[in-house]
Order: sequence, then structure tokens, then C-alpha cells
Amino acid sequence: MSQAEDHEGTRRDFLFYATGGAGVVATGAAVWPLVNQMNPSADVRALSTIRVDVSGVETGTQLTVKWLGKPVFIRRRTEAEIEEARAVTMDQLVDTQARNENVPAGSDAIDQNRTLDEAGEWLVMMGVCTHLGCVPLGNAGDFTAGGVGGWFCPCHGSHYDTAGRIRKGPAPQNLHVPVASFVEETTVLLG
Ligand code: FES
Repeated sequence: MSQAEDHEGTRRDFLFYATGGAGVVATGAAVWPLVNQMNPSADVRALSTIRVDVSGVETGTQLTVKWLGKPVFIRRRTEAEIEEARAVTMDQLVDTQARNENVPAGSDAIDQNRTLDEAGEWLVMMGVCTHLGCVPLGNAGDFTAGGVGGWFCPCHGSHYDTAGRIRKGPAPQNLHVPVASFVEETTVLLG
């Protein structure tokens, strides 16, 4: 199956589950509100995780997928982006917390605590500016590595570095890193 077909399939599944899930929740809420909350249906659980094929993501590019109604950036970083991110010291950061659900809360925002893999090639983040929720632009802003990497939110001028950490502008926090893992060599599971 081609990647395009695969994505199409995922979208169809998503819509199907979203519709089915809403019906189940509505019925459950009327009859067994507490039970329904404690035992989410299979449809609702399916909504909370998706598998993403990243085999087509070239170094220096980013795939944006929609998950739980929000954009998620899956970036495959260049060596320059990784080096740039790892050269940053904590005293240069606005937000010193990793904001990564895969590491203990309160962990330092060093690059190694932000990425999906140890080598730091893969960065997965919610594509939601922590100021007022706009979607930042990739390969933009004042903290790219040679013009690539980094994100810029044009709404009010927030600049994020090549690890998605806020460096300048009104956003108070680093871009959030959701629960994510590699389940196969080229498949990322979100949620
Ligand atoms: S929403 Fe991004 S800077 Fe305001």
C-alpha cells in the first residue's frame, strides 16, 4: 500500500471512529455516566492513539498529522539542527522544563529530553503555540540552523529553536511533546 493510500485509510478510520465514538459517548452519558467514564469504549480508545508511517519523511523536513483535533509536527532533523539544539545551555532558555510527556515532569529542557530517539534525529511536538494556540511555521524564526529547523508563530511573534523550545516572543512554554514512541522502525505511535 502506498503512503498516500495509507494516510487516506487512516483519515477514513479516524472519521469513522470519531462519528461512532460520539454516538457511544452520547448514549452512555445519558444512561451510565460514571460507568462510561471509567470504561471508555473501544471506539473512544481508538481515537486516542494513531500510528503514523514516517518512512517518507526526508531529513530536514517535517510531516504534520492531525491527532485529537490538533496538529502534530513530526520532524526529522539534520545534523546541523541537532548540533544547534545541543549547544544551547539552560541559561539561554525561557522555559527550562522539557514539557515532554515521555520523561518525568519537571525534567530539564536539554535537547536529549525533547527528542524521540537518543540520536536526536526525530522530534515530535504538538504544533500548537503555547501563547494563544496558533500553528507555528516550520523552518522559520530567529533560531533555525542555517535556515532550516526552528519554528515561528506569526500571530504575535514567538520564536522556537530547533528543539521546539521558546526563545523569544510572548509564548511562555516550549512546544509540548506528546506521548509518542517508535513501534516499528518507521512507525510512530501517538498516544
Ligand atoms: S499564538 Fe503564537 S505568538 Fe501568540
